[in-house]
Amino acid sequence: MHNKGKFIAFEGIDGSGKSTQIRILAERLKIQGDTCYTTMEPTDSPIGSLIHQIMTGRIKTDNKVIAALFVADRLDHLLNDVDGIVSKVNEGITVLTDRYYFSSYAYQSVDMPMDWIIQANEQSSQILRPSVNIFIDTDPDIAMERIARNRFHRELFEKKARLIEVREKYLEAFEKQKDVERVMVVDGNRSEREIAEDIWGKLMLLPESAAYQ
Ligand code: ADP
Ligand code: TYD
Repeated sequence: MHNKGKFIAFEGIDGSGKSTQIRILAERLKIQGDTCYTTMEPTDSPIGSLIHQIMTGRIKTDNKVIAALFVADRLDHLLNDVDGIVSKVNEGITVLTDRYYFSSYAYQSVDMPMDWIIQANEQSSQILRPSVNIFIDTDPDIAMERIARNRFHRELFEKKARLIEVREKYLEAFEKQKDVERVMVVDGNRSEREIAEDIWGKLMLLPESAAYQ
């Protein structure tokens, strides 16, 4: 009989530094002896690949359809037989995900009511609520610079005005969900190391019960 693993969701605007911090945290957890699995949304499943094709403009569809595809991709991410994360958490593996349903609450609610998005994701929140959501709060100007320095193309949502809006939607979503979700906000406008230290310190303060939510 295993204890359940922690499920940690990283959130933030594009270029905020999520994948960098996931890599650093995963290494540190492994050194500590934890079994750790890192993953992301949109996934690389057939549903995720459809989403990527929409985001890069190769397929056109309505925003409501994108919202629904994210819901489907997320449920598949949780439940599929091959590498579904619910089984991993149940086996005691710590799962770190680059984005989860707060990404939908923030990004999709720019175009449609947030309550609709929250409702549409209710299955996922009932199946697996993060032990903690870590929001890397990076200034949109800084995030844009990081993206510009390191990427050759911009995806649909990587425009500054959009990032400003999405950041505000994140804050609105955290406020709305504050009674049911654990959210940790870290200042993302610092060096990789400083952010990593901050995350590590805050995670150490999490109650053990956080793994069993
Ligand atoms: P995200 O996964 O949130 O889109 P990344 O971790 O991919 O963000 O970071 C975006 C880019 O910025 C990467 O090229 C990364 O090397 C760089 N980067 C990440 N964190 C920092 C930081 N704290 N300071 C400066 N550059 C960073
Ligand atoms: P990705 O290429 O993975 O970017 P990043 O490294 O910045 O996370 O693309 C993810 C994009 O999808 C990003 O712009 C946010 C968007 N997104 C949503 O709009 N809704 C969602 O539910 C998720 C998971 C992602």
